[in-house]
Amino acid sequence: MNDLSRAIDDQRAELDRAWTRVLDSAHVVMGPEHTAFEAELAALVGANHAVAVGSGTDALELMLRATMPVGREVVVTAANCGGYTTTAARRGGFAVRYVDVDAETHCVDPKALVDVLDARVGVVVVTHLYGRAADVAAVRSVCEPLGIRVVEDCAQAIGASTVEGPVGSRADAAAFSFYPTKNLGALGDGGAVTTSSEEIAGSLRALRQYGWDGKYRIGVDGGRNSRLDEVQAAVLRTRMPFLGAQNQTRRGIIRRYVEVAASGVRVLPAEGAGHVGHLAVVVADDRASLRRHLESQLIRTDVHYPVPDHLQSAFRDEYAEVSLPVTESLAERIVTLPCFAEMTSDEVDRVCAALASY
Ligand SMILES: Cc1ncc(COP(=O)(O)O)c(C=O)c1O
Repeated sequence: MNDLSRAIDDQRAELDRAWTRVLDSAHVVMGPEHTAFEAELAALVGANHAVAVGSGTDALELMLRATMPVGREVVVTAANCGGYTTTAARRGGFAVRYVDVDAETHCVDPKALVDVLDARVGVVVVTHLYGRAADVAAVRSVCEPLGIRVVEDCAQAIGASTVEGPVGSRADAAAFSFYPTKNLGALGDGGAVTTSSEEIAGSLRALRQYGWDGKYRIGVDGGRNSRLDEVQAAVLRTRMPFLGAQNQTRRGIIRRYVEVAASGVRVLPAEGAGHVGHLAVVVADDRASLRRHLESQLIRTDVHYPVPDHLQSAFRDEYAEVSLPVTESLAERIVTLPCFAEMTSDEVDRVCAALASY
């Protein structure tokens, strides 16, 4: 599904220089690479602030805590996004409510939102799933009259942009993950939140570091230690200039899959700047048979994600009454094909041949 050694090999000289910069500076936490990375990410996204943290899940949790309006306690999210928002919201002490997704985009269905919103809901999370920029404006138009904040999960869509602007700039705040397989991946864990609100950025900076509003001065309760370390900041700065071309390559791979797929297999398209081709997902009438066929041709597959959040064993008892027909049906039929920027053309050809011969 991926081979991280290829990007490391391709970028070895630049990565060695980045590592050496950190050693030479002897700043290992929140030093110059960290400061520069935050500024570069904010510029890429078109937000006033970027606050780097230790992982994408931390970014989600701290973002929810920094944006939840006083007196509200419910987070609304789609249930098909891998459970990260659910984990973050529960760790932040919030209740989670689920909304169904659109059958075409697999992103939150703005029309379904009205049924789950009430005065307890404080934040709606829009996840840009598989690399596709979701319709944030439609979600905002439902939420804002009710005083509900909208935030983005951009973990799978860094670099995507639509007429509304780049993802990460279109709501109250946005979370990013730099897990190594992401389109912009670190060599370890990392995350960030972008926002154009001075107030939200200030809360995030305090929450990520013990609640400090000054050194050794705890001004915000409930802080923790979640920092992006200096080496990862240097790695991400090194890799950011390659992001646009790599996103283009990923889209090109998915385009080939779309062109050749046999009937009974629908490859989700990844066209234009509004999609960065993070995952090549197909919807198959008979998933088991498609996976068997691909695996017989030595092509690995995966499922993102097999268990919707409300059916996860850790908390499904709380959601016994919840039914999300589109989410549940898609979870039975989706399959992910290999797609990463360093795939060779032979490898892409092999996947295409297997898709065409199904
Ligand atoms: C959509 C989405 N949100 C959040 C995360 C969490 O990021 P992390 O693994 O860095 O905690 C991930 C990936 O892992 C993700 O794909």
